[in-house]
Amino acid sequence: MMVLALESSCDETAAAVLCAKRGLLASEIASQIAVHRAYGGVVPEVASRQHLTHLREVIDTALGRAGVRLEEIDAVAATAGPGLATSLMIGLSAAKGLALGLGKPFLAINHIEGHMLSPFFNGHAIEPAVGLVVSGGHTLLVEIDGFGEYRLLGQTRDDAAGEAFDKVGKLMGLPYPAGPVIDQLSRHGDPCRFDFPRSMLGSGDFAFSFSGLKTAVRYLLPKLPDRSEETIADLCASFQEAVVDVLVSKTLGAARAAGKKIVAVSGGVSCNSRLRVKMAAACREAGLELRIADPGFSTDNAAMIGFVALHRLERNLLSVLTADIEPNLRLV
Ligand code: KG4
Ligand code: ZN
Repeated sequence: MMVLALESSCDETAAAVLCAKRGLLASEIASQIAVHRAYGGVVPEVASRQHLTHLREVIDTALGRAGVRLEEIDAVAATAGPGLATSLMIGLSAAKGLALGLGKPFLAINHIEGHMLSPFFNGHAIEPAVGLVVSGGHTLLVEIDGFGEYRLLGQTRDDAAGEAFDKVGKLMGLPYPAGPVIDQLSRHGDPCRFDFPRSMLGSGDFAFSFSGLKTAVRYLLPKLPDRSEETIADLCASFQEAVVDVLVSKTLGAARAAGKKIVAVSGGVSCNSRLRVKMAAACREAGLELRIADPGFSTDNAAMIGFVALHRLERNLLSVLTADIEPNLRLV
């Protein structure tokens, strides 16, 4: 079985080719970050037009790198949601058109499921685990019992963690997306210099809230003694530490409560170096196995969409060609 998968839910135009036997054959991503940076964030209409312009080329490159002709593809998949409506419709429509033209099955895939299962990408089976999906659009904890068997344990009540990174960065005048920039600046900073709130740490559930932390940074900024490199680095490190502490603590609590031995962390924020270090240390101490996708498969990509598609194909869970985009699609 050979799958062509497309991802266009936000500002990455991506295509991947996966084979049930040989695994991932190609994963191509055309990032629009440079285009949106001028606006300080993603502009939906601009994103949509960029997808339209680049999708064909990204598909051709993925097929070329995989050494596969379009006629050899057995199924075509694309992200159906959640995401920006005008972005989703480009990838989904292209996938439907290709499936129809080739006379092959079509699969509409949930973007959150793609992220969540990406840590299992290099393994064989999807094992019982607690999944933390932490990206620009989502922050949620899920109990995973197997493919398609998910139970939501908790999610953010306001901003996603990545959104908090990006908004705080914007307040500080950092370029979009600020997550990787804050990560980089924090390497030279003191995470203890500013005492930021660890919201909902004692809430007794698995919900998150990051908007209070963002407000704390907003109020602190005008009171800073200076804007030296050192102070900015300390501010970044202190903010990052607060986010990471909450993510690590809630994830370990969830693993304990759900009785799971594996922790699977995914989404763009899982690229964060401090989160990787602290999550690894906490899991080691608690006797848990940590799985995180490589950074290249943590931010938006089509390989994770193809991975879910292969699992659906195996179970004959196909989609109809009338399936529409679902901008507010939930995991469960
Ligand atoms: O998964 P993703 O590409 O898109 C969504 O589905 O949202 O995640 C993008 C988010 C952005 O908010 C970005 O700032 C954040 O992931 N991000 C990071 C890092 N790399 C990406 N946040 C913190 N540290 C990083 N190293
Ligand atoms: Zn994503």
